[in-house]
Amino acid sequence: MALLGATGSIGRQTLDVLRREPDSFELVSIAGGTRLAELAEVAREFHVRRVGVARPEDYIAARGVLGDGVEVLIGGDGLAELARDADVVVNAVVGFAGLPVTINALEAGRTLALANKESFIAAAPLVARVRDTPGALVLPIDSEHCAIYQCLADSTQSGHPDVRRLLLTASGGPFRGWSRERLETVTRRDALNHPTWSMGPKITIDSSTLMNKGLEVLEASALFGVGVDRIQVVVHPQSIVHSMVEYLDGSVIAQLSQPDMRLPIAFCLGRPVRFDHAWGAIDFTTAQSLTFEPPDLDAFPAIPLAYAAARAAGAAPAWLSAANEVAVAAFLHDTIRWTDIVPIVAGVMDQYQDVQLESVEGLVAQDQHARRLASDLITRGR
Ligand SMILES: NC(=O)c1ccc[n+]([C@@H]2O[C@H](COP(=O)([O-])OP(=O)(O)OC[C@H]3O[C@@H](n4cnc5c(N)ncnc54)[C@H](OP(=O)(O)O)[C@@H]3O)[C@@H](O)[C@H]2O)c1
Repeated sequence: MALLGATGSIGRQTLDVLRREPDSFELVSIAGGTRLAELAEVAREFHVRRVGVARPEDYIAARGVLGDGVEVLIGGDGLAELARDADVVVNAVVGFAGLPVTINALEAGRTLALANKESFIAAAPLVARVRDTPGALVLPIDSEHCAIYQCLADSTQSGHPDVRRLLLTASGGPFRGWSRERLETVTRRDALNHPTWSMGPKITIDSSTLMNKGLEVLEASALFGVGVDRIQVVVHPQSIVHSMVEYLDGSVIAQLSQPDMRLPIAFCLGRPVRFDHAWGAIDFTTAQSLTFEPPDLDAFPAIPLAYAAARAAGAAPAWLSAANEVAVAAFLHDTIRWTDIVPIVAGVMDQYQDVQLESVEGLVAQDQHARRLASDLITRGR
């Protein structure tokens, strides 16, 4: 197995799964961004021989902490090589930087356990081509998509014509029920305080704006080959029902568990075996209620923006995700307010004109262009 993004929230939880299943996997390669000491600890614990780091300037320091006998690989080229190393590749990198992992794992016919939604969404037309490689398989770690994957078990036809819609659940984030006026007061600390999930900073902010749910609509459409008009977002604050599938006959199949990412990670790694762990177990001997409500699209316009990007297709999802990455980073650096994030993304999308994606190089150019537009809007707003 290769675990790329080993030092993040998903990466650490994946290591937890491996510690519980020491005989099932051999971890042959890992990668991270800049946390070299943590990478070295993981490499020592799991006897990993190949390690990727993000920046060339970290090469010598990485050699120093990793010691002899461990090969150090650098940047996107390193990720691409490591993604071809193993039978199962976990893409737990955050953001567009995860692109080489997704493309190369699938091109090499590997099983890709996918957490990195940003690059998958941005590259959807290119990913569709490499998914046909013999042996290539995508298993979704994202809890909603892992739920839908399980609920679709009996729906085997391409495009799922027996399905009326996919019902993607959302906790609603920390600001559910807040008015537009109250949202003006949101601080970084408020936005980093998710009510039901503990995650990395970028996805936590995305969850607070509901952009995460918008990105997940795009992810579900690309993963399952279902148009976004058959995908509906449902707010479910308890985060127990991870998503649902409504079939043509009105049957709704749901997957339930406590919110714990180790469950979908273990599902993807174990497949077709289910490991014997109770991470997600629900205690039905105590009273509980599950509630559902529609999202407030007026207060949270990120969701309609994502639907519009899906309908525009081509490079539009890549622009949406790139602009959002820039805006979220600016918010995390206290350069913009929380209420600026989605308008900046909208301002970039207003400038989008139909662009088809033909190559990875073309996609990278589109990603960079959208980032420049977002940075310009941020600079002009200051
Ligand atoms: N966390 C969750 O519960 C959750 C749930 C569903 C989906 N996801 C998705 O999973 C992905 C990871 O999320 P996360 O919450 O685990 O993020 P995170 O905690 O911020 O971790 C991100 C990981 O990516 C690494 N990384 C960043 N830039 C890199 C680069 N250029 N090259 C190589 N590695 C790089 C980081 O390394 P350093 O820390 O060493 O810099 C870290 O290991 C995201 O796409 C997110 O949307 C997360």
